[in-house]
Amino acid sequence: MKAEWQAGGNQPVLRGKTLGMVFQKPSLRTRVSFEMGMLHLGGHALYLSPNEIGLGGRESVADVARVLSRYVDGIMARVFSHEHILELARYARVPVINGLSDYNHPCQGLTDFFTIWEHVGRLSGVKLAYVGDGNNVVTSLLLGGGKLGMDVSVGTPAGYEVKDAVLAQARAFAAESGGQVSTSNDPYQTVADADVVYTDTWTSMGQEAEQARRKAVFPPFQVNARLVAAARPGAIIMHCLPAHRGDEITDDVADGPQSVLFDQAENRMHAQKAILADLLA
Ligand code: CP
Ligand code: NVA
Repeated sequence: MKAEWQAGGNQPVLRGKTLGMVFQKPSLRTRVSFEMGMLHLGGHALYLSPNEIGLGGRESVADVARVLSRYVDGIMARVFSHEHILELARYARVPVINGLSDYNHPCQGLTDFFTIWEHVGRLSGVKLAYVGDGNNVVTSLLLGGGKLGMDVSVGTPAGYEVKDAVLAQARAFAAESGGQVSTSNDPYQTVADADVVYTDTWTSMGQEAEQARRKAVFPPFQVNARLVAAARPGAIIMHCLPAHRGDEITDDVADGPQSVLFDQAENRMHAQKAILADLLA
């Protein structure tokens, strides 16, 4: 998809197809990359804001799924509760794509593996160190990295670890693929020998009430020049964005020569086009 786009444009494999995009939370990348992706493939995307749908409030999730299925060829949804993704999928007659839930962020994960492959040249055996909150983004990195034979190392403050069930699932995948999964409460131990250093916001959407407490706990996990120096020389730096510069990542690192932050953002569009073509063409 990316090579075709760079060579002048994609084949219109989704001509006449439509995607309904349901958002319960704000978005820049997910909204614009899905919308442009549909456009590039000859289809059309419809943005449905939190105020319009009122998923589970104005109307039940099941009814939203049933109704949208009569109009569009696919649904992409960004929700608070992961249960709502599962419920949409259960009642929709068209494919449902998870555009981020409180549990995971699979489109981001798929994009990130593509970006690592572009920059590092392989995935198997690559050490991906994630430093920060044990949240939705690292859940997708663990589950995907486990399947892909990567060495995924996660460093979080005590009390902000990834859920045990996610770690167990990732370890089961890693046992099959030859990958590795490790956890620590020490950011320096986490990034030792890492090929990739990844971070995300300390306070995810929906956790705003905890922001002050989190800002007090997370500073030792900031991705700054000192922490990057403890990784493998030339390690790439990743962040799903939006970045809170000066909190989880410093400007010099985000804008430095090892940063691939904006390649990641661009690659959302290419990776999602592959998902869309696979599901809707
Ligand atoms: N990374 C990501 O999903 O960004 P948005 O929240 O802007 O969509
Ligand atoms: N963990 C972040 C990711 C944003 C793309 C959040 O859920 O807000």
